[in-house]
Amino acid sequence: MSIGILGGTGPAGKAVAARLASLERDVFIGSRQKERAAEVAGALKERWPSRLPGLFGVANEEACAAEIVIVATPWNGAAPTAAAHADRLAGKVVISMANALEKVGEELQALVVPRGSIAVAIQQAAPEALVAGALHHVPARGLANIDDPLDADVLVCSDHGQAMAATIELVDSIPGLRGVAAGSLSAASAIEAFTAVLVGINIAHRSHTSIRLTGLETG
Ligand SMILES: NC(=O)c1ccc[n+]([C@@H]2O[C@H](COP(=O)([O-])OP(=O)(O)OC[C@H]3O[C@@H](n4cnc5c(N)ncnc54)[C@H](OP(=O)(O)O)[C@@H]3O)[C@@H](O)[C@H]2O)c1
Repeated sequence: MSIGILGGTGPAGKAVAARLASLERDVFIGSRQKERAAEVAGALKERWPSRLPGLFGVANEEACAAEIVIVATPWNGAAPTAAAHADRLAGKVVISMANALEKVGEELQALVVPRGSIAVAIQQAAPEALVAGALHHVPARGLANIDDPLDADVLVCSDHGQAMAATIELVDSIPGLRGVAAGSLSAASAIEAFTAVLVGINIAHRSHTSIRLTGLETG
């Protein structure tokens, strides 16, 4: 299964790309500038020689050709990016990992965005895409070091059974992560906003924590 990442040149997109490519998947880091994506993919391949054979840097429109597309732009670029590529995203599983956060003093605070969440805004911008929200709480730093073990639950929400199943399968394919069905796309507002709490904890405790749910049977 191939993965394309819109805005894949930032810390979050790069981290997901490296992790998935290390699992022998074809991963297409997308950018508004193809050369930038090629540079970023080249740098990752240099850092992990022979570990990321299926990693490529491409323009965002080419990244949309992958079977699953992840949106990893900043929150305010996510819906416009989805809208710009809506035709290419039609019928595809599109995973939003974007969080609307703003720095206020020393902390990052959750913003109240139109339509309640970035995931819903993406769904409205690309109405024929099968949008899911996931990976909001996994710090890029841990994901990026492909030798670092991961240990987290990933809350997945979607209005589409196919997107829910494909996203959970993708998350579960990453050792140490467990995808958990967390409801319809309306849950994205709470999931995205909770990221502000986690970031605050990480700042206060100088940690890179994510979440692990208790009392939930595996699978
Ligand atoms: N960092 C984390 O630990 C983490 C963890 C989980 C989720 N997230 C979420 O993942 C998303 C990406 O985070 P990040 O830190 O990687 O972000 P970022 O570095 O600020 O942006 C990622 C990429 O998006 C593209 N971009 C920037 N502004 C854009 C715009 N207005 N329209 C379209 N594309 C734009 C840029 O790529 P090009 O210039 O190459 O196009 C940029 O390299 C955020 O929404 C964040 O909340 C982050």
